[in-house]
Amino acid sequence: MGIDFLLYNVQSPINVGQILRTADVYGVTVHCCDGARIFDDAVKLRVVEDFACGALERNPPILVRPDALPALLGSGRRSIATTVDGRGRALQRFTFHEGDLVILGNEYRGIDESVMARCQARLTIPMLPGERPKPRSWSPIVPEGGAVAADGGPCLNVGAAAAIIAYQSYLVEPARPSAFADEDTRRIRRAG
Ligand SMILES: C[S@@+](CC[C@H](N)C(=O)[O-])C[C@H]1O[C@@H](n2cnc3c(N)ncnc32)[C@H](O)[C@@H]1O
Repeated sequence: MGIDFLLYNVQSPINVGQILRTADVYGVTVHCCDGARIFDDAVKLRVVEDFACGALERNPPILVRPDALPALLGSGRRSIATTVDGRGRALQRFTFHEGDLVILGNEYRGIDESVMARCQARLTIPMLPGERPKPRSWSPIVPEGGAVAADGGPCLNVGAAAAIIAYQSYLVEPARPSAFADEDTRRIRRAG
C-alpha cells in the first residue's frame, strides 16, 4: 500500500486509461469521481480500456459517486490537492504518508474550491516559468467545454502529472514494502 489517486471529474477517456496504466505499474489504487460519466458510455469505456493496456481489468478503479465524495474525503486519511498555480508544496519536498489520497483535477477546471477546501495539503510539480498559451483544440474533449485556461500559465496534462507523482511516491515512499522496489531504487533512497 502507498498512495491512492482520486480522479476528480477527469473527463478524457484517454487520460483516464493512461492514468490507470501508470497506477497499475506503480501500485497506486485509483478512485474515480466520474462526473462526466465516461464509465457509463460504452464507446468511451473502450477508449479507457485501450489506453489502460490491461490495467482496467487487473486493477479497476473504485468508482465514487459524487454524493459519496464527502465520506471519502473525510475518511481519516490525508487528502492532497494537486494545483498548477504554485499554491502547493513542491513535489520534491513533499513527504507522502501511507494512504494519502492525491486528487487530480479536471482538464479544464482543475479541482473545485469546495473539494480544495477539504484537503489537508496541496502539491505542485514545479514547472519552468513563462507564458504558454494553449490554442483552442481541433477536437476538444468536450466540444461545448469552452476554452482551456486562458491565463497561458504553464500546466501539464493530467496524465503526465499523475505519472510524475506516481513515480516520485514510488521513489521516496519509505513505508512501501521494499520488495516492490528494485535494488537500484533502494540504492537511490539510501543515498538520498
Ligand atoms: C490541465 S490541469 C487543469 C488546469 C486547470 N485549468 C486549473 O487551473 O486547475 C489538470 C490537472 O492536472 C494536474 N496538474 C497539471 N499540472 C500540474 C502541476 N504542475 N502540478 C500538479 N498538478 C498538475 C492537476 O491535477 C490539474 O487539476
